[in-house]
Amino acid sequence: MKVTVVGAGAVGASCAEYIAIKNFASEVVLLDIKEGFAEGKAMDLMQTASLNGFDTKITGVTSDYSKTAGSDICVITSGIPRKPGMTREELIGINAGIVKDVSSNLVKHSPKTIIIVVSNPMDTMTYLVHKTSGLDKNKIIGMGGALDSARFKYRLAEALGAPISDVDGMVIGGHSDTGMVPLTRLATRNSVPVTKFISEERMNQVMEDTKVGGATLTKLLGTSAWYAPGAAVSALVQAIACDQKKMFPCSVMLNGEYGMKDICIGAPVILGRNGIEKIVEIELNDAEKAHMKESAEGVRKTNDLLEL
Ligand code: LAC
Repeated sequence: MKVTVVGAGAVGASCAEYIAIKNFASEVVLLDIKEGFAEGKAMDLMQTASLNGFDTKITGVTSDYSKTAGSDICVITSGIPRKPGMTREELIGINAGIVKDVSSNLVKHSPKTIIIVVSNPMDTMTYLVHKTSGLDKNKIIGMGGALDSARFKYRLAEALGAPISDVDGMVIGGHSDTGMVPLTRLATRNSVPVTKFISEERMNQVMEDTKVGGATLTKLLGTSAWYAPGAAVSALVQAIACDQKKMFPCSVMLNGEYGMKDICIGAPVILGRNGIEKIVEIELNDAEKAHMKESAEGVRKTNDLLEL
């Protein structure tokens, strides 16, 4: 199993680190445009191998896509991250050109690859890869919902005063401060609906804190987060590499599901060796449907800015 991670910045490096620590991939190639940067990160990570007990071979390359040839899975983290006060949508001008270029280089050397898009605005970048890469639709996956759901579970556990392992919950919709749809109605603590334990007012706070999860960290860190994004990507890569058939909310091209077409937006999917093996349609109530529709309108507005 060969995995390429493009972008050796904080998200890309943390993603490579988590993949290696989980020890399921034979090889991870880290690629960056900054001379020597990916090589340095790869060497530093390889020097943790004996300490952390992994055999995954991590190599770094500067812009040499020939070294990524034959990758089973490629992760795109490249582009600029947001600064405090910026929305993910404001990054489109620079990141669209980068993501288009990176994905075409990746597919040239690994025509059978599965691509996971992390660069923001993520839903629109995933849509762009669908429109330009020529890959089958099951092979293009946007990482957002897995991260947003992890942040949702963190906030739910905090409100419940419970350990995170007691909590289950999912966020669908767009990966933006206004577009996320945390499914509070379906969230549970050991199969009991969390709405049994958390007041409506507190639940609204959980929802708000979840939606601005990335922005809160950007304000604290001065740039966007990396540990949870890296861990979320590595979970998707592992589900595909190990054919786990696990369900995650991911940005996926819809073709009638959830009443939408020609849009990439967060919805639950089953991930296995073929990438997206199934889009799971869950019954939403009227408020959730309205929230999802509003979210899709936001994503479409950003998609309209693409020059396709
Ligand atoms: C975040 C970025 C990865 O939400 O979109 O932290």
